[in-house]
Amino acid sequence: MTISKTLNKPENLSTNKNLLNVILETTYAEYGSALEMLSACKNSEKDSFCFGFFHHAKDEYNHVDIFLSILKKYGNMSSHKLARDYRFSSTAILVKGYVSEKGYLVENLRLKDFIAYIYTNELLAKESFEGILKLLNSSEEDKNKIIKIMDDELRHHGLAKKHFIKYYPLLQPWHLKFYKIRETIKNKGRKFYYKNLEFLDLILSPLYKFMGFLAANIIRCINLVEFCHTGKNLMEISPKSII
Ligand SMILES: [Fe+2]
Ligand SMILES: [Fe+2]
Repeated sequence: MTISKTLNKPENLSTNKNLLNVILETTYAEYGSALEMLSACKNSEKDSFCFGFFHHAKDEYNHVDIFLSILKKYGNMSSHKLARDYRFSSTAILVKGYVSEKGYLVENLRLKDFIAYIYTNELLAKESFEGILKLLNSSEEDKNKIIKIMDDELRHHGLAKKHFIKYYPLLQPWHLKFYKIRETIKNKGRKFYYKNLEFLDLILSPLYKFMGFLAANIIRCINLVEFCHTGKNLMEISPKSII
């Protein structure tokens, strides 16, 4: 049996949904990261920082490209509805909070906190990719691509650490642990916020549909004969008519 037929079997539907969801969310995170790094590059005051952020942005865009190709591959193996539900939309990174509506991180954080953000999030990203590897148990090719991305994330994490050692020699290991805990809590908070939106959507969507149904039935009950002017002399229509 082909992979596509296997994925469309009802018992595999929830696994497939989970896989598409994880890949889509990761693509958003990578895209958000690419934009943040590009913004940091544009705002850099030092050439060396600009160079570093530029290469980091380039890596993140490559990661987006790889995840989009994996998303496309598994989307093609799924039903049309499922593929549509998990389609990438660049505007969703704002709705989902991967990039803040208040601006890029580099515009709102001190450089030290921004590097702390990179230091911890690159490590968290690498850890989350280990989970994706388990989901992609059927494809060695995709696994190798993700292992290469994990190497990149570890390199980014190491570069942020080097920055700390060079520019903030007084920083203690517990500071770095604190940064990691803080970012982990923020990540969980963002997921909770989006889950809340999904919950509200689940509650309010039937209500909106019901109101639309009511409005349609009310309109059907209104007598519209007076508005039908077919074959009538328009000059004889009352000037008070709304049509
Ligand atoms: Fe990345
Ligand atoms: Fe990265």
